Amino acid sequence: MSRPVLRTPLCDLLGIEYPVILAGMGPVAGGLTGPVATAPLAAAVSNAGGLGVIGGAGFSPDTLREEIAKVRSLTDKPFGVDLLLPSNYMGGAASGEMPRDPRELIPAETTAALKKMATDLGIDWKEAPARPQPAPRRTGGGMSDEQMEVVIEEKIAVFASGLGNPAQWVPRLKANGTKIISLVGNVKNAKRVRDAGADVVVAQGTEAGGHTGRIATLALVPQVIDAIAPTPVVAAGGIADGRGLAAALAMGAIGVWCGTAFLVSDEANQPETQKQRILAATDEDTRVTRLYSGKTMRNITNPLIEAWDASGIAALPMGLQGLLIQDLVYSCRQAGREDLLMNAAGQISGLLTESRPAAAILHDMVNGAADILARKLPATITAAPESAA
Ligand SMILES: Cc1cc2nc3c(=O)[nH]c(=O)nc-3n(C[C@H](O)[C@H](O)[C@H](O)COP(=O)(O)O)c2cc1C
Repeated sequence: MSRPVLRTPLCDLLGIEYPVILAGMGPVAGGLTGPVATAPLAAAVSNAGGLGVIGGAGFSPDTLREEIAKVRSLTDKPFGVDLLLPSNYMGGAASGEMPRDPRELIPAETTAALKKMATDLGIDWKEAPARPQPAPRRTGGGMSDEQMEVVIEEKIAVFASGLGNPAQWVPRLKANGTKIISLVGNVKNAKRVRDAGADVVVAQGTEAGGHTGRIATLALVPQVIDAIAPTPVVAAGGIADGRGLAAALAMGAIGVWCGTAFLVSDEANQPETQKQRILAATDEDTRVTRLYSGKTMRNITNPLIEAWDASGIAALPMGLQGLLIQDLVYSCRQAGREDLLMNAAGQISGLLTESRPAAAILHDMVNGAADILARKLPATITAAPESAA
């Protein structure tokens, strides 16, 4: 059987066969198992004709370098690295005002409220074993300075910034020939990363799993396209099959960036219980919460998220919120309540019913879109634009 054909300008720009990018996905499940998009998944997507992207956010610089080497041992195709470059980390610790122990920044009443929430859910409060303090951050992006040095030294084909603005890194990335992709959730940030030098802007709708904004994909994509033309736009959020891919191309996006679709792939580094919860989820089973990271994140819902949201407790900035919930996450694990841990996933979870190899997911998406665009639409829709005369 012949391979399906589906080419857009994204294929030429990134040197790939199909206009589908694996979203760079970092850790879930309280960081228990590391990032979701590791070498096997990234390489599988690249080998199948898409662009695999390592979710580098949860990797130390050394482990990131090892992961890059692993992908290179599994594929000779282009691949990318995604990192988070948040501007506000540990409540502004970027300015160098971070106390020696950032836990001092956590209000005692917030911890007390969290303990009560755990007790109400029948969880015994246990203190997590002491963990090394996060190193002070020079750009406010956590380890991002050191991680970015790895991306630059390794001359990665594609760099994706999941949060924040890559501006300060653009000259060195471009000098390496690295293509820069930046994720945004609104027009304002699309213009900002375009001005910074992004080669491709991913417009990510609120449907998306993980950190997400407020605007839906169908409304966001055309507005971003118009705002930053001629910079190319890739659509994200709620796209998991040929229908979503065809719709994104019809809107004028040159490709798609997909997370949830690949979360349930065989190669995803995601605990089996978490995959099963996504496969069992309906369209209504996700919630946006600040519980796990301090930023708005779409997750498969659970009683802890519901209790947190009902409590009205104000979330702390990214980084501090992670420290705040460290003991809570540990207590949930000790109580065998993995169902209460972070399980980031998008609204399209309800469409997913089986775990499959990433190559099969990619193939069906591309083949489905090609079928819609080349056969189904012309066969079922009669259309002609007004003539110029
Ligand atoms: C489990 C999970 C982890 C994620 N981690 C990251 C990350 O580390 N960096 C990033 O840029 N985006 C991350 N995202 C968001 C994705 O990049 C992507 O924008 C989103 O999954 C697209 O929407 P979809 O899930 O509907 O396909 C994550 C998403 C999920 C589901």
